[in-house]
Amino acid sequence: MAERRITAAAIRKRKGTPFPVMTAYDAAFGRIAETAGIDVILVGDSLGMVMLGYASTTRVELADMERHGSAVMRGTSRAHVVVDLPFGSYEASDEAAVSAAVRLIKYGGASSVKLEGGVRVAERIAAIVRAGIPVMAHIGVLPQTAGIGEGFRRDVRREALLADARAVEAVGAYAVVFEMVDAPIARDLTETLTIPTIGIGSGPHCDGQVLVMHDALGLYPDPPPFARVFADVAKTAEAGFRAYADAVRTRSFPAE
Ligand code: KIV
Repeated sequence: MAERRITAAAIRKRKGTPFPVMTAYDAAFGRIAETAGIDVILVGDSLGMVMLGYASTTRVELADMERHGSAVMRGTSRAHVVVDLPFGSYEASDEAAVSAAVRLIKYGGASSVKLEGGVRVAERIAAIVRAGIPVMAHIGVLPQTAGIGEGFRRDVRREALLADARAVEAVGAYAVVFEMVDAPIARDLTETLTIPTIGIGSGPHCDGQVLVMHDALGLYPDPPPFARVFADVAKTAEAGFRAYADAVRTRSFPAE
């Protein structure tokens, strides 16, 4: 019998234990992340920037998330695969949010969905959870609307963040991403909440940490200042392309 995937309930139990989350957008890198022992994979709408070359995540479509989410599912067997609801797919109504989430689960095969916002989207999260779909929340800097609203400044609004964190926990989110939340606030909220917090640019005290794969592997030319390159895959790939080009030009490839 096929091994069962990590469930949202199992991730919820990781409260207090540091765990890695990495984005991936296709079968190949989903497989590599899973083989490396990363069992929570986020198919983020960051794919709009790092895979599709947009300047922001705003133009990403539900169809993009479904296609890339299902690719990561096909490349993995055990990992929990969280797929982002893109901008425009959940704002209008609870019905729209549920139907977009159902599509990612039913046709994209996702294990759970993520959406951006706190108090503002609590009703949407509640509706999706009522439909039986686990939801990861995302507060702090919200990339989908940051470009047209608050901007990408570190979030230091302690009371507002507390209200957002409490709201998403109360309506049943199983975990919450903190993006660019001031580190001492992230630490205090992590201690307050009963669900795991997953930080990105929010200091070392969150339960989990998430990074965009292209930032961790040196594949994106303009990474955020908090990211770290853990392996320079871009350099290795460039060397491989050069070696191939040279081999073709000198007729040393292919062999007779
Ligand atoms: O889209 C994404 O990759 C994300 C992470 C930055 C958390 O939401």
